[in-house]
Amino acid sequence: MTLLIDNIGELVTNRDDGLGLLAKAAVVVDGDRIAWVGPSYHAPAADRRIDVDGAAVLPGFVDSHTHLVFAGDRAAEFGARMAGEPYTGGGIRTTVGATRSASDDDLRDSTERLVAEARRQGSTTVEIKSGYGLTVEDEARLLRLAREVTEETTFLGAHVVPAQYADDPWRYVSMVCGPMLAAAKPYAKWIDVFCERGAFDEDQARTILTAGRDAGLGLRVHGNQLGPGPGVQLAVELAAASGDHCTHLSDADVDALAGSETVATLLPGAEFSTRSAYPDARRLLDAGVTVALATDCNPGSSYTSSMPFCIALAVREMRMTPAEAVRAATAGGARALRRTDIGVLGAGARADLIVLDAPSHLHLAYRPGVPLIRTVLHNGVLQ
Ligand code: NIG
Ligand code: FE
Repeated sequence: MTLLIDNIGELVTNRDDGLGLLAKAAVVVDGDRIAWVGPSYHAPAADRRIDVDGAAVLPGFVDSHTHLVFAGDRAAEFGARMAGEPYTGGGIRTTVGATRSASDDDLRDSTERLVAEARRQGSTTVEIKSGYGLTVEDEARLLRLAREVTEETTFLGAHVVPAQYADDPWRYVSMVCGPMLAAAKPYAKWIDVFCERGAFDEDQARTILTAGRDAGLGLRVHGNQLGPGPGVQLAVELAAASGDHCTHLSDADVDALAGSETVATLLPGAEFSTRSAYPDARRLLDAGVTVALATDCNPGSSYTSSMPFCIALAVREMRMTPAEAVRAATAGGARALRRTDIGVLGAGARADLIVLDAPSHLHLAYRPGVPLIRTVLHNGVLQ
């Protein structure tokens, strides 16, 4: 069964270093793959045709950083922050308590609801981390549930040190590297550590990431979110796919990223929701760093599943152009997940695309807060 999407006013292909824009374009989908991309007047016939009437078409967003499997919310904590309280990450333990008490069915329902919410806003790939279980059984359970909705699953047993290990964090590190990693591994593709003051220090993070790598998992690092620290340089040292947050970077951190294959994943929803200063994407882009944008969707620091919202924030607050932000939300996310089959529109790519209720990608930042995603095609299936 082939599908011709015709009369596209502006097609974002990401086939070059920019957006690879094509005007008056068409796309042919065959099953779950893109079969052909080119000018409308050359388009081959297909079993079915959709005329998008001059709309913009983009690759589906690749949200390469979320924490979607959790129970409860922390609206009161958000309210207190907006009244002047600082964000410390300490609320993670509140969500751990609620998540441990929730049944599989309740967690499955809330995860499916959030994935559907993200999908409606154009995300066709969503990475999901564990990290609200922090016991062997609960971390494996969260990853098993995450694996039901995405292949991009990340073991984040090293999210925070649980209270009962507070006087001996290395005992928790040993558990993460031993039985917890063994239980998580069947359901995880990646391992991540929150390397930050109040969470895991550099030595602990290196120990955990190395154990994960030895077990065959890819590496990701949360770092430099709340202040300067070793997270980003550790990510580069270990050739992690991504260093995430990157809000407080030294010149040496930027140089390290620029000379590496490690993507800087920026999460402006977190700065929005913690009322913090935003990372400077311009500084990273000008240094030649590959930048990804993601939502960080979680009940504490960033309870948004909206990639268009993050694009608008990145343009307004982080000195990105709309084109750079759209690329970071598509091809950048794919790079952060080391994927070449998503985040692009060309023959052979996965048939993940979105049709905007707008003639150009510019509208994603130009019309913030407006639901501009008209149609989502995921794996070749209209959603
Ligand atoms: O990415 N940084 C650590 N983890 C999350 C916050 C989780 C929470 O507050 O529940 C983040 O911002
Ligand atoms: Fe996060």
